[in-house]
Amino acid sequence: MKNPLENLHSTLLMGFGLAVIAVLILHVGQIGEHAFWAFIFRWIHVLAGILWIGLLYYFNFVQTPSMPKIPDDQKPAISKVIAPSALFFFRWSAAATVLFGLITALMNGYLVEALTFQSPFVTIGIGMWLALIMAANVWFVIWPNQKKVLGIVQADADAKKKAGRLGMLASRTNTMLSIPMLYCMVGMQNVG
Ligand code: HEM
Repeated sequence: MKNPLENLHSTLLMGFGLAVIAVLILHVGQIGEHAFWAFIFRWIHVLAGILWIGLLYYFNFVQTPSMPKIPDDQKPAISKVIAPSALFFFRWSAAATVLFGLITALMNGYLVEALTFQSPFVTIGIGMWLALIMAANVWFVIWPNQKKVLGIVQADADAKKKAGRLGMLASRTNTMLSIPMLYCMVGMQNVG
């Protein structure tokens, strides 16, 4: 029998299986409660957020600084294989983070209050708006510009160069915003 860890899908399936076991051991009595499901959506939200911000940090800490060090004939390995796959999970995990974050706020009963900065939801409201700006950056600035850079959309050399710089600056903006965003996001639980 093949080791299931050799396959990503079965690895993920085992991870969720272990989480189900954790639920059965720890929280089975709470499954009927609203608070349990609000917690489940927050957990899914955090998983999606880790995938999104993990890839953002991969682009900024690893891929972008490494590109000038890669010989030209090897660059297509990044631009044709790795970057398109990373960008796929990047933009869809951003969308999932927003969706499950908004559902979490709705289930906690403070979606509108947080988005309109009403007390005591100002901190999470600022975190949500920062993350919404970041998600808009992903979908409306980074992705359209990356499509030109990667040749998914036709563009001449000059347009490609401009798109590359704009995408890089938007990605750097998101890296900067991720720091106060996460401060506000996790502050809700402990300092309000
Ligand atoms: C527009 C996007 C986002 C929205 C609407 C949103 C919304 C929320 C909400 C409502 C909570 C629950 C806070 C509470 O009552 O305890 C939360 C928690 C959390 N969010 Fe987000 N979020 C967004 C983006 C992100 C991103 C990008 C990350 C990055 C990893 C993230 C990480 C977290 C974490 C770690 C928590 C748990 C905090 C804790 O339990 O202390 N969120 N988010």
